[in-house]
Amino acid sequence: MRLIIATNRAPYDVKKPRDEVIIEKSPGGLVAALDPVMKGNDGIWVCGGEKLFEDYGIELPYPVKQVKLNKNENKHYYEGFCNTQIWPLFHYFPTRYKLHTKDWDFYKQVNQKFANQILEIIEPEDRIWVHDYQLMLLPKLLREKGVKNKIGFFLHIPFPNLEIYRIFPKRIEILESLINCDLIGFHTESYKKHFLECVNYFLIGQAELKDNQILYNERISKVEALPISIDFQEIQKIAVADKTESILAELKETFSGQIIGLGVDRLDYTKGVIEKFEGLEYFLDKNPEYIKKISFIQIAVPSRSNVQEYIKIKKRTDEIVGRINGKFSRDGWSPIHYIYSNLKFDEIVAYYRLADFIIVSALRDGLNLVAKEYVASRINNGGQLILSEFTGVAEEIPYKYLINPYDVTSISNSISQVIKTEEEQKDTIMKELRNYVEQNDIYKWLDSFLEKLD
Ligand code: G6P
Repeated sequence: MRLIIATNRAPYDVKKPRDEVIIEKSPGGLVAALDPVMKGNDGIWVCGGEKLFEDYGIELPYPVKQVKLNKNENKHYYEGFCNTQIWPLFHYFPTRYKLHTKDWDFYKQVNQKFANQILEIIEPEDRIWVHDYQLMLLPKLLREKGVKNKIGFFLHIPFPNLEIYRIFPKRIEILESLINCDLIGFHTESYKKHFLECVNYFLIGQAELKDNQILYNERISKVEALPISIDFQEIQKIAVADKTESILAELKETFSGQIIGLGVDRLDYTKGVIEKFEGLEYFLDKNPEYIKKISFIQIAVPSRSNVQEYIKIKKRTDEIVGRINGKFSRDGWSPIHYIYSNLKFDEIVAYYRLADFIIVSALRDGLNLVAKEYVASRINNGGQLILSEFTGVAEEIPYKYLINPYDVTSISNSISQVIKTEEEQKDTIMKELRNYVEQNDIYKWLDSFLEKLD
């Protein structure tokens, strides 16, 4: 049975520095999780793109069909409806939400283009798996064309509570589409609960709820909480590869004698990068004995750089790095090492191995795979995870030390605490985390989703 995956984001980006054409794995949790899924399955990945792989004669590790999106579609569907309307609202930032009525027409148009592409390739036995907030109308559009195949949907971002979801003008249209799926998956029990509450509130009289199922149009949609994961074994392999070891050796030399903190985030206001730096500043103010002793490396992956709120967050991040480094730097040492780049994965794994602790300070995050990647990379245990309570992963993993990233003292205290933790205790905590992530890897997630879909 083939699996047809539909996502807005293509798994790879085409880049053309000078005369060569290169491809780079796209940033973000969705691609990180689905790339191994497709490598191990018979299927087709349907995705969007302004530049098409076939135009460059690029071969990918699995069959890909691209839906070509034009500039206007990118502006109103991707930058507009997806990332200026749904994204801020679903991440509990209603003040960053901006309504442009035109955006909705483009959202419908692009979802229709995806439906047309799937209709061209679909065979009776195929299963269709639609991903994320960019394609929430797709299930209904496919059913309207008579598609009887199994359709699954997975939301990679939070599903907000009723009070936030009510703000969304297209709240009913989206629910009416999603309930055409046989299976609707979320990362956590909370998102699942919010979704069921919203269905109950907005589709009263149309859809009937029974346990965790929705009865609608003689169809049953199952709703499940299935936290996504990573390819644990593959990351372990990368962690011990020669290339990673040699990058790590160089980094150890550069940062020799320092306590190393790390952050790895797409540069997004939801990730709390500014709040993390403010927490670090507070820590250095209160604990000046650590000046010259701690280096914090922040890898910020460029993201959505045409969207206003992202232009602003980039500017604010640059400013705060400059201000904090200006305040504490001395004798060639500065506290923050800021890398604004989409680094190769083996480089990131080398940083994961190097870091004594990582801070995941998201103000709201669907799950956060960086936390799981860090754990998988810690082949010799050690290392510590400072994790925001507002991430999906905090609801999932067996971990008790959470921070409130809105509170500088919470971040600062967590840094003091990780620095003072005994090696033995660090190892015990990391072993438990590694065990959990190893048992609950991306393949387990895939199997559970497909088993429930079938
Ligand atoms: C999150 C979203 C994905 C998205 C990724 C990167 O993980 O859930 O759907 O692909 O961020 O964002 P981008 O806008 O670059 O695709």
